[in-house]
Amino acid sequence: MKDLRQPTEPFRIKSVEPIKLLSRVEREEKIKAAKYNVFKLDAQDVYIDLLTDSGTNAMSNRQWAALMMGDESYAGAISFRHFEKTVKEIFQKKYVVPCHQGRSAENLIFSTLLKKGHYVVNNTHFDTTRGNTLHKGGIPIDLPCPEVDSLDPLLFKGNMDTMRLEDFIVKHGADKIDMVIMTVTNNSVGGQPVSMKNIKEVSSICKKRKILFFFDCARFAENCYFIKKDEPGYENKSIEEIAQEMFATCDGVMMSSKKDGLANIGGLIAVNDEEIYRQITELMILIEGFPTYGGLAGRDLEVLSVGLKEVLDYSYLRYRVEQVRYLGEKLKEAGMPIVEPTGGHAVFIDAGRLLPHISPEGFPGQALTIAFYLEAGVRVVEIGSLMFGGIDPVTGEKVNAKKELVRMALPRRVYTNSHLDYIAEWASKIVADKDSLRGYKITHQSTFLRHFTCELEEMNTEDIKINS
Ligand code: F0G
Repeated sequence: MKDLRQPTEPFRIKSVEPIKLLSRVEREEKIKAAKYNVFKLDAQDVYIDLLTDSGTNAMSNRQWAALMMGDESYAGAISFRHFEKTVKEIFQKKYVVPCHQGRSAENLIFSTLLKKGHYVVNNTHFDTTRGNTLHKGGIPIDLPCPEVDSLDPLLFKGNMDTMRLEDFIVKHGADKIDMVIMTVTNNSVGGQPVSMKNIKEVSSICKKRKILFFFDCARFAENCYFIKKDEPGYENKSIEEIAQEMFATCDGVMMSSKKDGLANIGGLIAVNDEEIYRQITELMILIEGFPTYGGLAGRDLEVLSVGLKEVLDYSYLRYRVEQVRYLGEKLKEAGMPIVEPTGGHAVFIDAGRLLPHISPEGFPGQALTIAFYLEAGVRVVEIGSLMFGGIDPVTGEKVNAKKELVRMALPRRVYTNSHLDYIAEWASKIVADKDSLRGYKITHQSTFLRHFTCELEEMNTEDIKINS
């Protein structure tokens, strides 16, 4: 019998938010009206919302108190100074730019640093980093480590493939690669962590070849927890020390602070190079706001200053990452094939393995996503060919994702384990009825990030024949 115990919450609950489960008939109506796209559902029609861990965090009493300390001055607010000090301490950079969220940081960085037709290499781009790279005329390249495809529960599956990185640089030339980005944790391959060893190797390759090395570090603290837990030599270091060591290796960071900022909104850029900072802030004034607030309110900056420190607390991180593991174990018991080991923020179900009768063209992940809503009122998200497939901008060919996953992302400090037990019970029922699930086809889509707005319908018998 596996030990399913997990660390008890290192907090108690002071404020509660009611949630409601609609009837099965109501859920059928709602998902039909949403054109079988869960992004189009009203949140109040969802019972347990695991769509994302982004901006859905519960704030602490200290963060709520900090809200009142917001200095809303247009320029030079003291709230910016508090934020700047915290960011400098953790990220070890000279210049700090607040942004309203991660993708605005991406827009500013890529608009400043990318040249058309040049490459951006990443362990794996998240959808918005990929979208923003393409939007600026860049070519996003993913170089995940080979272990990522292994079904074994190996450590640090989020790493970048350093051999392929070297080869890529030799083949295409360092002057054609505008930036190497390390995404920690590696969201698109299952929230898997990256080891310090891998970070240092990539950093030294970039230094040698004079290529900018950046982090996309939305979940940096969760990554540091894995390093402390699993990488020899780090067991006695604090999370803050590990973060500092990690960020000392890079030229800059972009962060969606809606994750490990433990806040509901926010992002940041931190760089060492004065010229890059100047260019970013020039553009920023045009599109985001003055550089001491960056599209955020002063109160948001105060909340982030507290959140970015709170997230470094070991007992919090242990509870957090182990809660994700608990959900993973429960889903496995229910018969769901999952990506192992579980990552930092989410459990990724392998819908391709669960539903082999649905081809990637029928989006097995979407079929499972709809099943979770219909059966249990739970909102999850497809991370497969609906999100990453489509027409390749370089070759013009139709491509599918490497894996057909479904993500159950856990908002931080929001749901208890009995919510997770409820989900696992319904997962068993879905597994029992899995052969009855059908694929979906797109009836309307946009060019970029189609999964947010596309419309779908269930495949009929004729569609299934054409696709098989
Ligand atoms: N980078 C990574 C690794 C992310 O996971 C996200 C967002 C972003 C950048 C963009 O940040 O949303 O603040 O603009 N991920 C969310 C998710 C949306 O659900 O995984 P943003």
